Amino acid sequence: MGVARPDQGAYLLRTAAMDAGRAYKEELLRLLDPRPGQTVLDVGCGPGTDLPALAERVGPEGLVIGVDRDPAMLAEARRRAEGLPRVEVRRGDAHALPVTPGSVDLAKTDRVLLHVDDPAAALASLHTATRPGAVVGLVEPDWETLIVDAPDIGTSRAFTRFVVEDTVRNPTVGRALGRLAAQAGFTVDTVHATTPVLRDAETADYTLGLGRNLERAVAAGHIEAERARRWFAGLSEGPFQASFTLFTVLARR
Ligand SMILES: C[S@@+](CC[C@H](N)C(=O)[O-])C[C@H]1O[C@@H](n2cnc3c(N)ncnc32)[C@H](O)[C@@H]1O
Repeated sequence: MGVARPDQGAYLLRTAAMDAGRAYKEELLRLLDPRPGQTVLDVGCGPGTDLPALAERVGPEGLVIGVDRDPAMLAEARRRAEGLPRVEVRRGDAHALPVTPGSVDLAKTDRVLLHVDDPAAALASLHTATRPGAVVGLVEPDWETLIVDAPDIGTSRAFTRFVVEDTVRNPTVGRALGRLAAQAGFTVDTVHATTPVLRDAETADYTLGLGRNLERAVAAGHIEAERARRWFAGLSEGPFQASFTLFTVLARR
């Protein structure tokens, strides 16, 4: 155990660059299909991972707006957007998006609704921001789909239960995305599921915070310390496998 929480911006960029991360992001871009001249909104843009690709697609006549509430993320996003004149990085909250109502042609949000106070209210704000006919792409994991292979399946289950119940605000928002989007007034066109399979323990530790969350589960009394230590040590000894499912919803305003 004992893997320190990596710098959040670097972590997000690195996970986005991993094979699984790259695949679902490329698929989202393909589905959204941004066109020259469009105004595109990236809600919870984080370190600006997707801003350059969006800017390239909308071209000099378009506009890309990245919104995030975290100053460190915004600083990183601004660095990544340097030299891209049609990208604006704005500080704001997903529940009250800082854009002109009805001005957005295309929007995406990627692994953000699992953190917000009220996903339904955030989607209502997105509905207000978009123009009639706008296309939105929403991606969220469902942490109840997380599985980690280990001979001690009981500790794997206790670990997963801790991740679901104690680490993020909306752990099961992934499965609810289509319903929430429809309730916010969008017409849901497709729902895709992507299941990255991680076969390298070090990568999974970094991506899923295995060691970090295990320490927290032990500290909270959910898993006994020696059992946790053996489970974690065993993960890097044999063939490793863990997976989780991300849901992608494509919808229209
Ligand atoms: C897991 S990161 C994803 C970042 C980015 N979408 C990406 O794919 O790399 C989640 C981001 O959502 C932002 N966030 C969480 N809650 C938010 C809110 N209520 N309003 C705006 N941003 C929020 C966080 O600051 C963080 O940058």
